[in-house]
Amino acid sequence: SSDNAPSNNGADFIVAANRLPVDLERLPDGSQRWKHSPGGLVSALAPFLRKNTGAWVGWPGVADVEVDEFTEDGLRLHPVTLTADEVRDYYEGFSNATLWPLYHDVVAPPVFDRGWWDSYVKVNHRFADACAKVAAPNATVWIQDYQLQLAPALLREQRPDLRIGFFLHIPFPPTELFMQLPWRAEIVRGLLGADLVGFHRPGGAQNFLWLARRLLGLEPTRGAVGVRTRPGVIQVGDRAVRVGAFPISIDSNGLDALARKRETVTRAAQIRADLGNPKKIILGVDRLDYTKGIDLRLYALQELLTEGRIDPQDVAMVQLATPSRERVEHYQRMRGDIEQVVSRINGEFARVGRPVVHYLHQSVDRAELAAFFSAADVMLVTPVRDGMNLVAKEYVACRHDLGGALVLSEFAGAAAELTSAFLVNPHDLDGVKNAMHAALTIDPAEGRRRMRALRRQVLTHDVDRWARSFLDALSPEQSP
Ligand code: ADP
Ligand code: G6P
Repeated sequence: SSDNAPSNNGADFIVAANRLPVDLERLPDGSQRWKHSPGGLVSALAPFLRKNTGAWVGWPGVADVEVDEFTEDGLRLHPVTLTADEVRDYYEGFSNATLWPLYHDVVAPPVFDRGWWDSYVKVNHRFADACAKVAAPNATVWIQDYQLQLAPALLREQRPDLRIGFFLHIPFPPTELFMQLPWRAEIVRGLLGADLVGFHRPGGAQNFLWLARRLLGLEPTRGAVGVRTRPGVIQVGDRAVRVGAFPISIDSNGLDALARKRETVTRAAQIRADLGNPKKIILGVDRLDYTKGIDLRLYALQELLTEGRIDPQDVAMVQLATPSRERVEHYQRMRGDIEQVVSRINGEFARVGRPVVHYLHQSVDRAELAAFFSAADVMLVTPVRDGMNLVAKEYVACRHDLGGALVLSEFAGAAAELTSAFLVNPHDLDGVKNAMHAALTIDPAEGRRRMRALRRQVLTHDVDRWARSFLDALSPEQSP
């Protein structure tokens, strides 16, 4: 429509994601302010976009607010409004109670609700319209994540001049699970509106190629997809859609520099002192999400204490858990379970003034987080399924001292790269306990050897490299 015709001062590079990098927060006194949005997508993309010129299309994080476009820290932000019903049906419903559990190996049962789907379609139209309006002629639009899988095709219908990329930040599921989705063909068709569809792992790309053949009768290439190389190709009419694997990362150097700052080192020592100078500090940092396996690591700790393999006088565990999706039922249940285990452990093993588990249902800022990472002797990252898991990489980036040990689930995308971690199957409680025990008692030289290998990987594969490899593969010169 003429409404969505590109404006003259349109942007040449646009990121579209469900959330803007900042969330509108309403304070009790009625005023409002912008704060950093939760989650790995924003952690990864915001530093990249701030270094480059671009616009970001997304939701400001609260229902029913109309906010004009504005510039924040050099980044043009284009807010998309969601109504309260859409927050319930498109965001909490279809995105986070259908797609999120389905794509994470159905660790919680996905709900298939036709009304939610209708809302998902409608909101994807709105995002496509917003991108069409913001994009300059021949611009590049990079659409992010599971909330917006229909937007690539909807945008292409309006703006065939654009270069459109799509990246999925969560796992792409096994085909048998994806096939449960009543709207499976629509999703595949929506994604094929892009010129390049990116996943973290080659397996996800491979699953998508298989589905394009099975559901839409297309003829994808059959060769194995590599990491950042050898994308698959699907011919869709006169377009060639590429399908590849691009493992995301973090601003490794930025975090390394932050961890080296004197303030961070001092703060880390203060944290250790505040915890009562325990021999070992164990740390978990996650959004409070049932995929993160927070409960599993607490059960492992509880058993180690009960069996006397860990002395409660020697250890303090800190679990930072960012509040997340609090109105979705599975999140509420998980929160209750976790808080119950925390109090059981403390009830049994704490002394006055010395809890064993320090549980903070809070988000902390980057500098504080870097101090926690620097202070932690053992970092527990135990998701039952995770697309990448940036926390694991952030911990490594903060350990310029080569101290600390990382216990990492095999079911996080990061495990494919961080092979010198203590890799565990989070469902194998004895295995997790043994890995925790090994990490707590590791010989310092062996610990440094492992950390050096981990750092080599994380520092040479940062988020800039991820973005560049994706955008290079998206650029028209790469077209077959
Ligand atoms: P997800 O995207 O599923 O939340 P990731 O591990 O990929 O998982 O990314 C989470 C991001 O959120 C990381 O950048 C991490 O530092 C940040 N984060 C998680 N928990 C907290 C917390 N309690 N306080 C501050 N930041 C947090
Ligand atoms: C993950 C998802 C992101 C999402 C983030 C936070 O990183 O991949 O798309 O933004 O979690 O979740 P939320 O629902 O609060 O946006």
